Amino acid sequence: VFSLAACSSADSDSGGSGEADGVQELTIKISHVVAENTPKQHGALAMKEYIEKESDGKIKVQVYPNSQLFGDKDEYQNLVANNVQFIIPDMAKLVGNDPGFNIPSMPFLFKDDEAANAFWDGEKGQEIFKRLEKDGVLGLSMWPNGAKHITNEKKAIKTPEDLDGMKIRTQGGQLLEALYGDLGAGSTSIPFGELYTALQQGTVDGQENTFSNIESKKFDEVQKYMTVMGHTRVDYALLTNTKFWDGLNDETRKIIEKGVEEATKVARDSAADLNDEALKTLKDRGQVEIHELSESEIDAFKKHLEPVYSEWAEKIGADIIKDAESKSK
Ligand code: LMR
Repeated sequence: VFSLAACSSADSDSGGSGEADGVQELTIKISHVVAENTPKQHGALAMKEYIEKESDGKIKVQVYPNSQLFGDKDEYQNLVANNVQFIIPDMAKLVGNDPGFNIPSMPFLFKDDEAANAFWDGEKGQEIFKRLEKDGVLGLSMWPNGAKHITNEKKAIKTPEDLDGMKIRTQGGQLLEALYGDLGAGSTSIPFGELYTALQQGTVDGQENTFSNIESKKFDEVQKYMTVMGHTRVDYALLTNTKFWDGLNDETRKIIEKGVEEATKVARDSAADLNDEALKTLKDRGQVEIHELSESEIDAFKKHLEPVYSEWAEKIGADIIKDAESKSK
């Protein structure tokens, strides 16, 4: 697939990395936690293809999906240590760094991927990304995955009361914890790489995720019910290490920057389609009983979660939430 001109064909007199001119010879690692048939992997592969091609193979890009290199617990520290150059975490995993990353967990905030993209591309979204700079981390781009839906082992969820007493795995605490608390459910955050086993062993009753994550990790094998709800989202932050980035010469950085741009397009263009396909596959496999909430059932959840929404709008910042809301109008 990657028609690389061999390294030897590159007309390099510069003799290695760190030179002021010419593309630097580098090996870059991209690590993430999800499966292959996901927008994250599609984006990561597009980045690899573009950068390797445009650098005539001087830059090698290694992509590690499925928590092969690092998992949820250690990918951020390893980015800070420059053991990996790009990670693409679900923002819910960054809430400990800044409360603004709870935005994808604000119930029913964004109407679709485009609204979420517009917010993170805009001034307020970029401000939140900048808050990672204190760690030596640079936020380059937002990639959407999409709306989340609840799967569980106990019962078909149709009303807020149906969640009472359930134990739900979430991606990260804070707002998601408050949300499930409001619904009378307990919650705990478990790394994505350990989730299948946790569901199988009944450590938790359920979890919330996008169709493409549910399908590609076969959670339907270990869950009886799925409620199509779309109450929260998975949105990713493509992050790099500031020192690594600043150590690139202009020519090298331009190629990588353009690779990020291309990859962002691919990830954004493929997310909704992959979720549609995954839902079809889940229906075809027939292992989970699927309930699609009606408008009035969704309204009941919105009403129930209103206090959580208001409380967190204040915590995140009323001006930021207003800006986010404006993108769905
Ligand atoms: C999860 O942990 O459920 C997701 O955040 C995984 C991912 O990166 O999409």
